[in-house]
Amino acid sequence: MTIIVTGGAGFIGGNFIFHMLKKYPEYRIVCLDKLTYAGNFSTLNSVMDNPNFRFVKIDICERTGVFALFKEEKPDIVVNFAAETHVDRSIEDPEVFLRTNILGTATLMDACRHFGIKRYHQVSTDEVYGDLPLDRPDLFFTETTPIHTSSPYSSSKASADLLVLAYHRTYGLPVSISRCSNNYGPYQFPEKLIPLMIANALNDKPLPVYGTGKNVRDWLYVEDHCKAIDLIIHKGRVGEVYNVGGHNEMTNIDIVKLICKELGRPESLISYVADRKGHDMRYAIDPTKIHNELGWLPETKFADGIKKTIQWYLHNRDWWEEIISGEYKVYYQRMYGDRK
Ligand code: NAD
Ligand code: DAU
Repeated sequence: MTIIVTGGAGFIGGNFIFHMLKKYPEYRIVCLDKLTYAGNFSTLNSVMDNPNFRFVKIDICERTGVFALFKEEKPDIVVNFAAETHVDRSIEDPEVFLRTNILGTATLMDACRHFGIKRYHQVSTDEVYGDLPLDRPDLFFTETTPIHTSSPYSSSKASADLLVLAYHRTYGLPVSISRCSNNYGPYQFPEKLIPLMIANALNDKPLPVYGTGKNVRDWLYVEDHCKAIDLIIHKGRVGEVYNVGGHNEMTNIDIVKLICKELGRPESLISYVADRKGHDMRYAIDPTKIHNELGWLPETKFADGIKKTIQWYLHNRDWWEEIISGEYKVYYQRMYGDRK
């Protein structure tokens, strides 16, 4: 079994590679990644010497390189994590999101059609459903909730999902899609809420909370997401969408206060700043389908997962300090410098 994992030098893709190599030592895993600002070669250090692992630096939009790799590796399965993923960056500059997230997905699927494949899996997001109001805690996203996006990022992911389903219907490509809620855990790039707050708190820097801090996200430990994708590619039905989430809703401000408490830092570091444009209020996944069909359930409780995550960032300072000392400084100044 050969699996091409795109975007494997990123947060979830990297964790997925660790999970797969450990659980299926006989599988060959080929990571295809462009190594954008969000990709970190060092994330994959621990698997580089594994003879069943190969890393290839390619852009998923580059048809020639992608086709050559498919011709050489003849993958059975492709799992597409590669994407531009940060909502704030998509608000600043949508174009690269449209290119990578939509055209890149089409290029990969064209290669799958050309060379044949047992499964193409698209790693999507709950953001394609838009948001839910705070005063309706009874509402959840199901797989039949209409697509209704808010940001250029979520619109690009929704466009890709529609293309994936169209390739299934039109060309009979054996596809599946997972739409997961917010992930947290080791190796997450420190532009995202949890690692950004951990890194800033450890450096006694202000903790920038957008708007009122009352927006709600549904947090899932990254390993649980990886296990869900593993189940879907092996046992999930072709042509289907599976929502993935663990019923773990938290407001942003509660998350930030918890990080202060765990790290022994004062809440006076919290600084309310201008809200994100078009900021989604609440995400909440109904995971009934994946539970009933595939028996998936989240295994890590948030109280344990956040402690493990904080410990990881404490013990792996080299990994994130190298990131925040580089180009990230320019990004941080642009995003937060004058934000009032
Ligand atoms: P990430 O930003 O940490 O990593 C993205 C990876 O994709 C990087 O390694 C980057 O180098 C690579 N990449 C970007 N453009 C590329 C291109 N053109 N060609 C090849 N590689 C390219 O992302 P993540 O948070 O790990 O998210 C992975 C996937 O999961 C994305 O598709 C995202 O939409 C989805 N998702 C993320 C979350 C979350 O909470 N992080 C939740 C649900 C779904
Ligand atoms: O729901 C899944 C999505 O989760 C994924 O598809 C995206 O790729 C991923 O980035 C994430 O999107 P969010 O926008 O929810 O994540 P982010 O970490 O950027 O922000 C989480 C919440 O925290 C959001 O309400 C905005 C807020 N926030 C974020 C940052 C970076 C702050 O208040 N301050 C910040 O500095």
